[in-house]
Amino acid sequence: MKKASPSGSMLKVTGVGKAFGTLTVLNDINLEVGEGEVVAMIGPSGSGKSTLLRCINQLEPPTSGSITLAGITIDAGIVATRRQLTELRRTAGMVFQSFNLFPHMSVLRNVSLPQQRVLGRSRVEADERSMSLLSRVGLASKASEYPVRCSGGQQQRIAIARALALDPEIMLFDEPTSALDPELGLEVLNVMRELADGGMTMIVVTHEMHFAETVSDRVVVMADGRIVEEGPSREVMRNPHSQRARLFLNAVKNR
Ligand SMILES: Nc1ncnc2c1ncn2[C@@H]1O[C@H](COP(=O)(O)OP(=O)(O)OP(=O)(O)O)[C@@H](O)[C@H]1O
Ligand SMILES: [Mg+2]
Repeated sequence: MKKASPSGSMLKVTGVGKAFGTLTVLNDINLEVGEGEVVAMIGPSGSGKSTLLRCINQLEPPTSGSITLAGITIDAGIVATRRQLTELRRTAGMVFQSFNLFPHMSVLRNVSLPQQRVLGRSRVEADERSMSLLSRVGLASKASEYPVRCSGGQQQRIAIARALALDPEIMLFDEPTSALDPELGLEVLNVMRELADGGMTMIVVTHEMHFAETVSDRVVVMADGRIVEEGPSREVMRNPHSQRARLFLNAVKNR
């Protein structure tokens, strides 16, 4: 199994800042993620975790700094071309807390349509790939169902299959289990664990501390729009150096 190879850099975030009007929500963020590395991102509500993920795939343009993702560099202030954006969004698969599946399409169409639209795959080709990914997330039997007839955990696994179908180089997860009850969340975490074991490069914003400690190679703690601590997962989770990270982890552990 492939694991963190320090050789190749998949993502480099350099001096990224983000302001909404007068509100600064990201401040001089520097982060590098190697090929095959799994990074968990934790931190209090409002600390800028979602905004950082959204800046990484340019759903939100950063106010300053630059982001290099799989060889494409986008500098703040320079408008990216449509082609760059399409390529970037294919490269970075994103999974949100809410699954955002199309309710009027079957599970299979939900996974196939983006492949046809974005990659120009034929329907037959796309369906084939969809079926293989739906099997991988344990949902081949749901292919012809509508999303509404699937549980939340199943819908999230479908959303993961849909993102994987575009052959991303990195997967960005924004609290993928926080809308799910613990058992359904576990199904999703297991799929993510398998992805990590298979060598996928991942950034996972999560409140699942066990997952952060056991699955990720590295933990990044954010607070007030800054990275306040970063290091090997076990070390950060058990023995954080910064006062701010310690405060947050104590609060989480004592819940
Ligand atoms: N589109 C927007 N316009 C204005 N302010 C925004 C916008 N999006 C986010 N913010 C603000 O940016 C800050 C960071 O928000 P963000 O959603 O990134 O936090 P978070 O760490 O993901 O929090 P949570 O754990 O609650 O999801 C918050 O103060 C939020 O109100
Ligand atoms: Mg968030």
